Amino acid sequence: MDPDAEEQMFAAVIAADEKIEPRDWMPDGYRSSLIRQMAQHAHSEVIGMQPEANWILRAPTLLRKAILIAKVQDEAGHGLYLYSAAETLGVSRDELQRLLHSGRQKYSSIFNYPTLSWADMGTIGWLVDGAAIVNQIVLQRTSYGPYSRAMVKICKEESFHARQGYSIMMTLVDGSEEQKAMAQDAIDRWWWPALMMFGPHDSESSHTEQSMAWKIKRITNDDLRQMFIDQTVPQAHYLGLTIPDPELAFDEETGHWNIGEIDWEEFWATIQGDGPLNRERIAHKTKAWDDGRWVREGASGYAAKNRSLDKSA
Ligand code: 3HC
Repeated sequence: MDPDAEEQMFAAVIAADEKIEPRDWMPDGYRSSLIRQMAQHAHSEVIGMQPEANWILRAPTLLRKAILIAKVQDEAGHGLYLYSAAETLGVSRDELQRLLHSGRQKYSSIFNYPTLSWADMGTIGWLVDGAAIVNQIVLQRTSYGPYSRAMVKICKEESFHARQGYSIMMTLVDGSEEQKAMAQDAIDRWWWPALMMFGPHDSESSHTEQSMAWKIKRITNDDLRQMFIDQTVPQAHYLGLTIPDPELAFDEETGHWNIGEIDWEEFWATIQGDGPLNRERIAHKTKAWDDGRWVREGASGYAAKNRSLDKSA
């Protein structure tokens, strides 16, 4: 097909809300933006296992331990799903790991914060997975086929993640004064970093305009953030918890909750590597990758041997 016809075909598929598939022609910028975002998404799932794994051995009951193990395993699966989807764009997961370990690719800022109490497990499920769900439900409509389909499966599992987190919070607020205080301390520490998950204001976003034009993104950072705030504030009030924002106010006219200003200095510092635990997260991830080399080599050696046996059979 001549180049003009390929561009027209791409534009027509996007305009018709259809899906771009791996073998379709796509602009280089579309491909690289998807690789960037899908890799960051996958990295976030994998790094996101660290904060919660910190509490698997300290869960208060066997049931809570089993639920947390299941959740952390899900996150690993989400990462593998997203790396597989990213590989359809012509990049290898080994390359993506190298870019992550060298700091040339990012993961979500939220995973650089410490998990100091059991209430953090509830708050992460409720707020962090809750924010991820708001984002990922919309991403089911993203224009790239493999990414869109990966979101369908991931969203199903995320809803369990958020519900188990909210269940922990309900148990704590129905408990002793110390447990209520633990729940309040956790939302005090996680509320604002959860809002940062949606990225900078649209006016500060370097990718949103083009991502929206290519329908990689379907709703902008600020609008997604507002959706999350509007659904979460009533949940916090139901729990009897206070949102740590003195400027929080319901706007009768718009029907939205207005918030104070996010600490963008903290946001940019965290995503540039100066958050509370960035170095620890990457060091742990890199060590796990290096320690697991023998497993990968064994598995790929076994697979290669089987392929050659199949050929000779
Ligand atoms: N953490 C780290 N980096 C962030 C960020 C965050 N919270 N928000 C924005 N950034 C980065 C962007 O990657 C971009 O940097 P880059 O050019 O080096 O990649 C820069 O800040 C400017 O931000 P933009 O808004 O212009 O970037 P995007 O258009 O990519 O929007 C996003 C950011 C909304 C996070 C978008 O990438 C997205 O929707 N990603 C998919 C969802 C995702 O990654 N969620 C992360 C959490 S996954 C998770 O929570 C797992 C769950 O199981 C707990």
